[in-house]
Amino acid sequence: MKRIQIINGPNLNLLGTREPAVYGNLTFEAYYIELKSKFPDVELDYFQSNTEGFIIDKLHEVGFTYDGVVLNAGAYTHTSIAIADAIRAITVPVIEVHISNVFKREEFRHHSYLSEACKGCIVGFGLDSYRLAVDAILKF
Ligand code: DQA
Repeated sequence: MKRIQIINGPNLNLLGTREPAVYGNLTFEAYYIELKSKFPDVELDYFQSNTEGFIIDKLHEVGFTYDGVVLNAGAYTHTSIAIADAIRAITVPVIEVHISNVFKREEFRHHSYLSEACKGCIVGFGLDSYRLAVDAILKF
């Protein structure tokens, strides 16, 4: 069975109530149930943290044994050299995802420290970005 780790960064625990015009009305927990039902033959694990170091710890933990990581690092995308280095330090492919189309938003969201270290990026498809990333990993 393939094992895929989903990691959500800061403020993504508030999906469903946080800026619904940008991120929608669904909680990640509700979406995660839907997502798991689409991939009954995949072990999909979910982790969320508002703390940069805990995201790095999780990347180290799964980064040599899993089949892929789906990472939405939230605002750390635009600031974190440490998360980018963690992605480079592990062997498991990481897909960067964003719910919103960051390129349609403020200028500071146009740059990602992570993209260069990631296998690929999926941006702007709402929560379906996660499903697209899982599909991509399953094709590796
Ligand atoms: C986000 C985009 C980031 O710019 C923002 O800081 C987030 C969410 C997205 O999924 O669209 O927290 O990663």
